[in-house]
Order: sequence, then C-alpha cells, then structure tokens
Amino acid sequence: MDIKKWKPVRTFFTFLCLILCLLAAGCSNVKEPGKENGSDASGLVIGFSQLGSESAWRLGNTASMENAAAAHGINLVVNNGMQKQENQITAIRSFIAYQVDVIVFAPIVEDGWTNVLQEAKDAGIPVIMMDRVINVRDSDLYNAYIGPDHYQEGVNAAKFLIRKSEELQNEKIRIAEISGTEGSSPMISRYKGFHDLIDNNDRFEVLETISGDFLRSKGRECMESLLRKYPDQIDVLYSHNDAMTLGAIEVMEEHGIKPGKDIVIISVDGEQAAIDLLKEGKINCVVECSPMLGEAVMDLAEKIVSGQDYPRITRPEESVFTEYDDLSDLPPREY
Ligand code: AHR
Repeated sequence: MDIKKWKPVRTFFTFLCLILCLLAAGCSNVKEPGKENGSDASGLVIGFSQLGSESAWRLGNTASMENAAAAHGINLVVNNGMQKQENQITAIRSFIAYQVDVIVFAPIVEDGWTNVLQEAKDAGIPVIMMDRVINVRDSDLYNAYIGPDHYQEGVNAAKFLIRKSEELQNEKIRIAEISGTEGSSPMISRYKGFHDLIDNNDRFEVLETISGDFLRSKGRECMESLLRKYPDQIDVLYSHNDAMTLGAIEVMEEHGIKPGKDIVIISVDGEQAAIDLLKEGKINCVVECSPMLGEAVMDLAEKIVSGQDYPRITRPEESVFTEYDDLSDLPPREY
C-alpha cells in the first residue's frame, strides 16, 4: 500500500485499538479528534499519563491538555495514574504497544523511569515530560520538558518570607513546612529553593518539614500534628501547594488561630480558592505555579512529529501574588 494512504489507516486503527484497550484498562477522556470546535483533525495520537487528580491544580492541568488537544484536532488518550507510579508505567507501556505518535507524562516521582523510557525510545516514540522532572542518567530518554521552575518557586517563597520578616518583631522566626509528595521534583525543588535562601540566616528556624502529599486531607492532618507538637510556637507556615494550605487553614481556624495574622502563610500554586483567601488576608503570599501547559505541549508534539526544531525546555510565565500587591484587577483563575 502507498505509504501516504497507510498513515491515516494506521492512525485510525491505532486510535480504535487505544479506545477499546485503554477504556478497558481504565483510561478516560479518549477524545475524538476535532469534534469540539470544528477544527480539522491532525490525526496525531498522544498518550497522556497524568499522575493523578490530587488537587485543583492537577484538574486544571488535565483540562488544559484536553482543551488544547481538542483545539488542535489531536487524539488525546488520558490515563489517570491515581497517584501510583506503577499505574503510570503500565499506561506508558500500553501507549508503546499501540504505537501512539507521542507520549506525554507527568511523573509522580523523580526516580524509576529508566526502563520504560528506554522501551519508548527503542520503539521510536518521542516522549514529552510535563510539569515534573525525573532523574535519569541518559537525558536522551525523553525529548523535551514543559513545566514550571519549581526551584524558583521555593526561592520566591523564601524571598517573600525575608521581606515579611522585616516587619515582624520576633527575634526568632519559627517555620513549619508542609511539603509535597516525597521523591517528587516539586517537593525536592521547592524545599531546596526555599532552604538555600534561609538556612544560613540564624533568625529563621524550620521546626519541622512534614509531607502532606499535595493533598488537602493530609494538609489537615499535618497541621493537626504540627499544632500538637509546637503549640503557640509556629510563626510561619510554608506549604508546598494550595490544596494542603486550604486543609491547614481549616485546622488553624478550628483551633482559634487567625491564619495570615497569628501565623504567616506562604503557599504555592495560585488556584482561585487560595487567591480568594489571600484577598481576605488569610494567606500572605501565593507563589504561582501554572498548570496551563496544554497549548505548549500540543505545539511541541506537532513540531517533534513533523521534524521541526523544538526547544528542549519550555517554561510558562509565572508570578508571585502577595498581600503587598493590588490584586483587584487579577483576572479569574482557570483552576
Ligand atoms: O507538580 C505540581 C504540583 O502538583 C502542584 O503544586 C500541586 O498542586 C500538584 O499536586
């Protein structure tokens, strides 16, 4: 058969097999190309391994991928890893088996990806890493990374703290840190960026860093535990995401503590609920981490498949929102 005729036929059968097999395996949101906005289908098939649905940030990120795929006429097959690396590895293997055109994945943790990415490379399937980064010796195991600079987010959080500390009277400023998922790149980098700036200053003391797994429910549990261990001692809460911050704030209020006043609160993400609390004075600083990566991912996938030059690293623009800013003109958040 003529190769030009074979390509759409192969794409159709790949997509059909993916729908049948991945729906059976728990994948969702298998979108028919180009239906949502009447755009022409590109015929590209992208297998997307999303790590879970732990936060509004994550839901916004998945929606951004789905909307951008629809706008580009790309067949997006989404698998939700439900917070488990083994589920993500299984999904990536099925994407390889069905020869998708591009694999996109948001790795839950940094380590443990070498074998499955080698399999994708051997199968000649390009891989885009999104949101989080991984630890692999051979960086050619993926083609490109699109996502925020999580180290800079930690630095931004510390910069706010340093500014805020100028107006605090305390001789020592005691910090409780609720971190993200152990072994994940945002957890590691937000920790490092923050500590690199404050650890050499004796005025700052981190009482404890405790993992809340980026979950609101665990943010609650962590705050309960921190208040039990350090009653009346916490001056600042540095929380690695808004979901955990929201849980922690609930607990503070249940204990009669005024968030944003009795305890200075620094959060990361920038979801609407956190911005609302910032405006109410219950959060002091929100470091933005943008989940709106879908458009950049689709552009990149098209460039890679059509053999054009493409950047190895793409970063979204990000900001820092603080109690010192006029936020009245801030447009509604999309997550
Ligand atoms: O990897 C990005 C982080 O993951 C976001 O800060 C958080 O909300 C999500 O769970």
